[in-house]
Amino acid sequence: ATKAVILVGGASRGTRFRPLSLDVPKPLFDVAGHPIIWHCLTAIDKVPSIQEVYLIGYYDESVFRDFIKDAASEFPNLSIKYLREYQALGTAGGLYHFRDAILKGRPERIFVLNSDVCCSFPLNEMLKLFQDKDAEAVILGTRVSEDAASNFGCIVSDAHTRRVLHYVEKPESHISNLINCGVYLFSTEAIFPSIRTAIKRRADRPSRLVSYRSSENLESSFMVDDDDDDENRKNEVIRLEQDILGDMADSKQFFVYETKDFWRQIKTAGSAIPANALYLQKAWQNDSPELATPSINIIPPVYIHPSATVHPTAKLGPNVSIGPRVTIGAGARVKESIVLEDSEIKHDACVLYSIIGWNSRVGAWARVEGTPTPVGSHHTSIIKNGVKVQAITILGKECGVGDEIRVQNCVCLPFKELKRDVANEVIM
Ligand code: GDD
Ligand code: GTP
Repeated sequence: ATKAVILVGGASRGTRFRPLSLDVPKPLFDVAGHPIIWHCLTAIDKVPSIQEVYLIGYYDESVFRDFIKDAASEFPNLSIKYLREYQALGTAGGLYHFRDAILKGRPERIFVLNSDVCCSFPLNEMLKLFQDKDAEAVILGTRVSEDAASNFGCIVSDAHTRRVLHYVEKPESHISNLINCGVYLFSTEAIFPSIRTAIKRRADRPSRLVSYRSSENLESSFMVDDDDDDENRKNEVIRLEQDILGDMADSKQFFVYETKDFWRQIKTAGSAIPANALYLQKAWQNDSPELATPSINIIPPVYIHPSATVHPTAKLGPNVSIGPRVTIGAGARVKESIVLEDSEIKHDACVLYSIIGWNSRVGAWARVEGTPTPVGSHHTSIIKNGVKVQAITILGKECGVGDEIRVQNCVCLPFKELKRDVANEVIM
């Protein structure tokens, strides 16, 4: 048998997803009409040998309850459980902590998925490579531009055999443009002993260099003082990326499956817009019956929740998701945007490259707009007049934009009323 784990992280992370994560945990944020992790489950459900899925994270116990209940009826072949870490244990630490649960029923393999990526999750293809190569680990890889590569884990592989030769997490200098997509398949016999070795190696080290993630800096390291040994031991996290994968490249049958399909990280709130577009385009290619029927005013792909009210003269799309109970008035224009539950877009308003938070109102003839980022870009900020600003305009929940007001490249915290034109600002 095969099992799957989705690493959902916890509340202290997701700071870059503000202001949207103030109201919903990032893994449950809706893109293309469904929570981010629903897209992971859809892919997992297509692997016939998987019956059990664990969401591992350190969010409160109650956070995923309703989602799991809904998913249980939508994915009747999957048993889905949330396993809560008492604190952040790291991407490998969480797996290790729950090894008894994961190993129950003696699965031969586990898929491990980062929850904050958007892709077509070619799990069956990874499984095939795993079997063909008699592998101990398979990682999903994709090619990115040279300047983007060092923001990710980088893989050096043998082009012919597809074996992973080196793995370096967020390297300081360029080593490869083949990067870690955050999706793995491990043999249970290889992964747990590898984690145990990493834990032991760390415990044996007299003075340790522990690196943690801070929310803003990609990476920061601290020398750990041996005086607070207990404290440090507790704070130590074990991460697949820094502590395990490099070793696996040296000593295990470790292969990379390179996807040519789409892939994006979902880190900043603005990155929900490309993720929404990519999942909608995939649904469109698959003739998904969930999408709105194209017409003169519906440019596909567009998702409209059945409870939303869209005036027939409003023009929507491409790449638009309209949430439950949203109202879109006459002559409005919405393009490359997400409009969340209970919001209202008044007549003749224009919403482009934006996210409209829950229960917000956009006035008549108002314009709320962001800026498209270049195709294939992995950044969600742009330089405008020499200043770095968010490409996507985001309104937090319960914001109001007055009639005829123009909002450009702004991030607006919840409960704000915008009564004047604003551009390139964070409105607090
Ligand atoms: N359960 C649990 N516990 N989950 C965690 C923890 C933890 O302590 N820490 C992180 N996660 C989850 C996050 O929610 C996310 O889904 C995933 O693990 C990876 O998050 P990060 O540790 O923040 O890493 P990253 O996103 O900067 O980089 C990783 O993903 C890239 C692809 O998006 C690395 O794997 C990179 O190599 C990779 O390129
Ligand atoms: P594409 O179809 O995107 O190639 O362009 P188009 O010229 O057909 O215009 P489209 O209907 O797509 O509308 C997008 C553009 O309409 C935006 O870039 C706005 O500049 C403009 N627009 C601004 N305000 C409104 C509005 O209230 N209603 C509509 N329908 N369009 C507006």
